[in-house]
Parts: sequence; structure tokens; C-alpha cells
Amino acid sequence: MSSRVALVTGGNGGIGTEVCRHLAAAGYRVVSTCVDPDRENVESWQRELEAEGHSVHWVQCNVTDFAACQAMAEQVEAEHGPVEVLVNVAGITRDAFLHKLDKVDWDAVINVNLNSVYNVTRQFVDGMRKRGYGRVINISSVNGQTGQFGQTNYSAAKAGLHGFTMALAKETARKGVTVNSISPGYIDTVMTAAIPDEVREQIVGSVPAGRMGRPDEVARVVAFLAADESEYITGANIPVNGGLFTSF
Ligand code: CAA
Repeated sequence: MSSRVALVTGGNGGIGTEVCRHLAAAGYRVVSTCVDPDRENVESWQRELEAEGHSVHWVQCNVTDFAACQAMAEQVEAEHGPVEVLVNVAGITRDAFLHKLDKVDWDAVINVNLNSVYNVTRQFVDGMRKRGYGRVINISSVNGQTGQFGQTNYSAAKAGLHGFTMALAKETARKGVTVNSISPGYIDTVMTAAIPDEVREQIVGSVPAGRMGRPDEVARVVAFLAADESEYITGANIPVNGGLFTSF
């Protein structure tokens, strides 16, 4: 069991909720960010997890806004203590072929999926270095490794996370701070439910495991990387994709 503080961006989403469950079950003091507490029903999300015996907290923060991330970090550390585990999960899709992709949808995906990781990680990495302990875990995607129809924006952002992960891992490797990414394949969430049915069937048919993944299959890898004992794993990317491909 760990009593460390873990911040999970987008911790009330499909994969994020399972990440919060797994970390809370392992003893972490878990805080999730959310953008709009009312629209996202975050209080009922919190009650649901508490009913299962998982104590979780939340803080309102638009992770695309650097100043808001600064204020959020101060608030979280004042209320809960230093953040030692950071899981960057927040992500969106705005799928369209590039020849039809509007600038607003390019910008939204790059801001939420990539710029947010700078905005949030920047708030905590200095403290992690000074204390000599930290875990940064970035949720990327198989589509940041292979590309995907209709996802130049998402694939670019998720591929960017791999570069960010490896570079920061080098900067912090001697400071007790590990930085890794996980690349989920097609996980059964609201995000993948938005894929047109015939395309989703075709994608699932191409997965060697013959099915979509479950959020808990990603969350257990987060818990593994977050553990103190995982200190020699850094700069790595762990695919969780049912065998979609076998090398990076
Ligand atoms: N594989 C093969 N062909 C594809 C394809 C795919 N994944 N996606 C689209 N096509 C083909 C269509 O079959 C169609 O072919 P024809 O012209 O021969 O009929 C052609 O491309 C045009 O497709 P649409 O008629 O659907 O065109 P559209 O402009 O309306 O939409 C699209 C295009 C936005 C790409 C839409 O097809 C789509 O949303 N596809 C799914 C994209 C996707 O996989 N997103 C992943 C979301 S989940 C996620 O991102 C989580 C994660 O990390 C894995």
C-alpha cells in the first residue's frame, strides 16, 4: 500500500475512472481534475467510487489553460500534500480526414491531448526532482504509433507524448523521477463508442485478441508503473492493445 498523493487528469473519464479506482485501492490519495463539475456529474462519480470503498477527490481545472494549472497545483498541494504520482489521462477526439479537418478541431485535440501534458507536468516536476521521487505516466495511444484514418490531430498529439516521455525521462532519471507512457489500443469507452459501427467492427476484427480492451486492463499497468518498486523503468512505452502489433 502507498499513501502518496496521485493526481489524475480526466480521472472521471472511461480509462481515468479505472485508474482512480486502482490507485485508490492501492492506498494512494487520489485527486482527479475535471473541467466542468456539473456537466460531468463529478459528485455522483465521487459518490459511486466512495460507495465501493474508494476515497477519491476532485478539483476543477481546464488543463489546456496554463494559469489554471498553476492555481490547481497550488490548491491540490495545499489540501492534500505534494503530488508524487501524476497520470496524464485527459484526452479527446475530433476525427475527420485532414482535407475536411477544421482548424478548431486540430487546435482542440493538440491542446487537450498534448499541450495539457506540458501545462500540468510543468507544475509538479520541479517538486518531484527536489524531493527525489516522482512518477509521471502519460496515456498515449496505439494511434500515436501507427496513425489512424481521420486522426492526423490525435495521432500527432499522441505521438508527441512519446517524445515528451522519453525526453523528460532522460532529464529526471538521476532524480528518482520516472516518466513512462502507456499506449492503449481500442478500449471499450465512450470515446470508442463514437466510432462508426462498421469501422469499429473492422477495427475489432483486426485485433489479434479478437475483442476490445477494458479500462481496467490499462489501469493495472498504471498502478504497476506508479509503484515504488518500478523505479528502474523509465522512458518506456507499454502497449496494451490485444496484440495489434508487436514492436514499436
Ligand atoms: N480503415 C479503413 N478504411 C477506413 C477507415 C478505417 N479505419 N476509416 C474510414 N475508412 C474509409 C471508409 O471505409 C470509406 O471508404 P469508401 O470511400 O471506400 O467507402 C472512406 O474511408 C471514407 O469514410 P467515411 O465515409 O466514413 O468518411 P467521413 O469523412 O464521413 O469520415 C472518418 C471519415 C472520420 C475517418 C470516419 O470514418 C471515422 O470516424 N473513422 C474512425 C476513426 C477512428 O478509428 N478513430 C478512433 C477513435 S478511438 C481512439 O482514438 C482511442 C484510441 O486511442 C485508440
